[in-house]
Amino acid sequence: MEITTKKITSLRVEHITKRFPGVLASDDISLSIGEGEILALVGENGAGKTTLMNILMGLYQPDEGRIIINGEEVRFRSPNDAFAAGLGMVHQQYMLVPNMTVLENIALGYKQAWSLFKLDLAMVRERIEEISKKYGLHVDPDAFIWQLSVGEQQRVELVKTLCLGARFLILDEPTSALTPQETDELIILLKRMASELSIIFISHKLQEVKDLSDTITILRHGAVVFQGNTTDHSPSDIAALMTGHEVELPLNEEPPCDGEIVLNIKDLKVKSDRGFLALNKLNLSIRSGEIVGLAGVSGNGQRELAEAINGLRKVESGEILFYGEDLANRSPHHVIEAGMGYIPEERNTEGIVPSFSIKENLILKDASHPEFSKHTFLRNKEIDKNATDLRIKFDIRSPNISIAAGSLSGGNIQKVILAREISRKPKFLIAVYPIRGLDLGAAEFIHRQLLEKRKEGIGILLVSEELDEILDLSDRVAVIFKGEIQQVLNRKDANRRSLGILMAGVKDDQNI
Ligand SMILES: Nc1ncnc2c1ncn2[C@@H]1O[C@H](COP(=O)(O)OP(=O)(O)OP(=O)(O)O)[C@@H](O)[C@H]1O
Ligand SMILES: [Mg+2]
Repeated sequence: MEITTKKITSLRVEHITKRFPGVLASDDISLSIGEGEILALVGENGAGKTTLMNILMGLYQPDEGRIIINGEEVRFRSPNDAFAAGLGMVHQQYMLVPNMTVLENIALGYKQAWSLFKLDLAMVRERIEEISKKYGLHVDPDAFIWQLSVGEQQRVELVKTLCLGARFLILDEPTSALTPQETDELIILLKRMASELSIIFISHKLQEVKDLSDTITILRHGAVVFQGNTTDHSPSDIAALMTGHEVELPLNEEPPCDGEIVLNIKDLKVKSDRGFLALNKLNLSIRSGEIVGLAGVSGNGQRELAEAINGLRKVESGEILFYGEDLANRSPHHVIEAGMGYIPEERNTEGIVPSFSIKENLILKDASHPEFSKHTFLRNKEIDKNATDLRIKFDIRSPNISIAAGSLSGGNIQKVILAREISRKPKFLIAVYPIRGLDLGAAEFIHRQLLEKRKEGIGILLVSEELDEILDLSDRVAVIFKGEIQQVLNRKDANRRSLGILMAGVKDDQNI
């Protein structure tokens, strides 16, 4: 199969403006990117990064401004027009169909394989193989999407985009859900690809921006506030330019915690979606007022543990003792009523109802509580007040509290979930990758909130792959490997090296 798209030697946007009700999402933006260049687009949550890219891809029409490719103005009425011109985008929220295979998902967008009467899957398979080989991106065409880890899904999105003939790649926070190893691999891959493609790369992780990009554009409130060469700026320079102030992540410097054990997990066995044991006799206890960091490479049972505790996954055997009560195989509703707070990994499918308003999402778990309802009627005044307060406190950037949560920017959706779970006054909090997708300032705020909850005596299980986050906040660190806890370390004994060794499955103390 030949690529039918033309090479893109230059792309320019000029004076792009886009308004949504109550928001100026793009404010007279101009930028240009040359052949083989990697441009990093950075800015706070809600600054307008995704919107600008969606305009480039023909998903939104700009109110003003124009797009110029290879010197000629283009008008994309839909993403199909953008694909045809050689643009491809991997979205912030992946857009794969879970109950279809990799092959079928890629075939969906692959026009050349469709004829009037049939779909030529063999042709798509061939194309996948060709692309996989060329870029060293391994994917199994016959695996179902639901069986894949987030990192694998990301690879499928990339292969899909390349199969469609992309000559210009837009990657919207491609690394936010990847493991550190996967991130390193992706960065090497993108650098290699830049010899034939131009890339726009969006990320909140400034070290990556530094490692990967040639130029940086910073957006604030929809407008370009800075453009320059990456080499001239350190990550902390970029952070300061982005937020307008220095950001300092807080540390847990309290003495070891001696509260009572409130969550006690004993010999827990849970199966994964693929049917094998994802947790194999896992034991873990957490005290009140203690933060236990669960460190591990993603896919070692973290997700299944969080789901089992929250009543979202069947427990085969073992106990989940929560203030003395066994929560194993109880309903999610029961677990919520018992006082469990849960910040899930998948924010769009598990954390919010996208079509509900922000204020409704903020009381999702408490809609029938007397605070918010009376004789089956909702108490609108209280609901509004709750949302207004939380919007200010958590800095949720939105024109008002009545718009659909699904129209918020990725990071602001995460803030809605965090605001709800933290403000519900849970007795315990399970926080899975809590700062994923947040800008630096928001991450700092959330870390402070978690430390505050700890001080109030709440136990916290912090699931993260970011060792810095784990080391900054935890009282103790439990390392999970293949569904078992390898070892639990006190904060003073935990460091990048000791954790790295344990995360790789080495148990022997002598090697640490
Ligand atoms: N379809 C839409 N309808 C209404 N408002 C929207 C829509 N899409 C985006 N917005 C608004 O436009 C602004 C910019 O959002 P955008 O998603 O571009 O931000 P972002 O820079 O990508 O942020 P993040 O880092 O959180 O992903 C936000 O205020 C958002 O609420
Ligand atoms: Mg975005």
